[in-house]
Amino acid sequence: MTPSVTEASLEREVAAYAALETWALADRWRIYMRLRQEAPVFAVGNSLLVSRYDDICDVLLDHDRVRNGAPSRGVPSDVLERLTRHERAMLDDIVNWEERWLTSANGVRHADLRSLGTRVFAPRAIREMRDRIQEIVNEMLSRMAPRSTVEFISGFAYQLPLTVISEILDIPVEMRQPLHETWRGMMPARTGLAWRTQLPLGLESAHAHFMSMKRQVKSLLDFRDGAQTTEIMTNLLAARADGADEDDILVLIQILVSAGHQTTEDLLGNGVHALLTHPEQWDRLCEDPGLAPAAVEEILRYSSPSQDIERFADSQFTLRGVPVDPDQHLTLLLGSANRDSSVFRDPETFDITRDDAKAHVAFGRGPHFCLGAALSRMEGAIALEWLARRFPNLRLVDDTPRWIPSTHLLGLEALHLALGPDRGV
Ligand code: HEM
Repeated sequence: MTPSVTEASLEREVAAYAALETWALADRWRIYMRLRQEAPVFAVGNSLLVSRYDDICDVLLDHDRVRNGAPSRGVPSDVLERLTRHERAMLDDIVNWEERWLTSANGVRHADLRSLGTRVFAPRAIREMRDRIQEIVNEMLSRMAPRSTVEFISGFAYQLPLTVISEILDIPVEMRQPLHETWRGMMPARTGLAWRTQLPLGLESAHAHFMSMKRQVKSLLDFRDGAQTTEIMTNLLAARADGADEDDILVLIQILVSAGHQTTEDLLGNGVHALLTHPEQWDRLCEDPGLAPAAVEEILRYSSPSQDIERFADSQFTLRGVPVDPDQHLTLLLGSANRDSSVFRDPETFDITRDDAKAHVAFGRGPHFCLGAALSRMEGAIALEWLARRFPNLRLVDDTPRWIPSTHLLGLEALHLALGPDRGV
């Protein structure tokens, strides 16, 4: 049951949020505001939530005192003690896999791994993909057009980024959907705070999907070995041939596939939802589709697909007077930073013409800044531009869309839309 605002303590609200209670997830913006105002560094379970923009940026740039690591390493000791030996072994497999993620790496290892993808995802290389992305967008919109209503998430929002990242990685068509489904099965481990505290809930299934992902990316890599393929696949195959650890390569492919489509899917779904629930903003975009890149920045700020990222303390320090011990888990609330009134004017207002949106931290900050930022910006802008050009009468069919139960991700499970007439390409 939703507590009234006055009676609920901050502790209770944050606990409900961390436990994925539906009302608290829907009300996360107000909870973030309370955190920023009342307790900008706040302990929940074994994690410290950091909610203010400046503090989050400081932590992200502080490599002396803070490091990246496998998210599932943050499981509290009392939860670990409850796990059976079999459950513990499954969790270890997941931690070992996550430990190899680019987002978990530090220093030289991070720079080396990241260098395998920097050129391919650089803004200049991405600009060269514009025509192809526009072609994919319009093909997908044409496929949707004959239907009067569509489920936008499965019909478009994940298909577009999955197709684009699959072309970059040279993933055969028949391998794409299974990879997407396997990633979906790994999602319990991406629910954020709840995953670590509610274990072993969902562990068996998440573990099976982690292991299946490993097999699938290995068969992809082997399939492309010796064949002419795309630049990044060639780099990855060459790295393996030069003696790089195969698991590092497999994990890099997995993170490119998953980060390469989940978050952009959420950007598109959240964006269309925000625009249609603020019809005057949708009308502005339809009047001037050239506003699409600015709309993307505002969507990233207002409904950031990655609501939080995680770090571990490397030494002892204090943050806003709160002591932080070595190995302390930190949850950096990007979604809160992006609504911080010390940076954004009138932060709770969705306005695609605002001039301060680009200060958002939706792609993180520092050396781990999103590798796919230029790609997702371009996919988002082209998709919104052509949706507005072709379907200006777009509207929500269902005003209670289903959100993914997660503190970490903000995204829709389904979004039903009425398209209206197609104005054509
Ligand atoms: C709207 C879309 C996207 C959002 C909101 C987003 C968000 C983020 C964030 C917040 C980080 C920083 C993680 C950290 O510091 O711990 C990150 C890193 C990363 N993103 Fe994205 N991302 C998006 C799209 C993409 C795409 C399309 C790709 C595909 C290439 C991608 C690949 C990556 C990779 C590989 C990293 C790790 C970078 C590193 O650790 O050096 N992302 N992303």
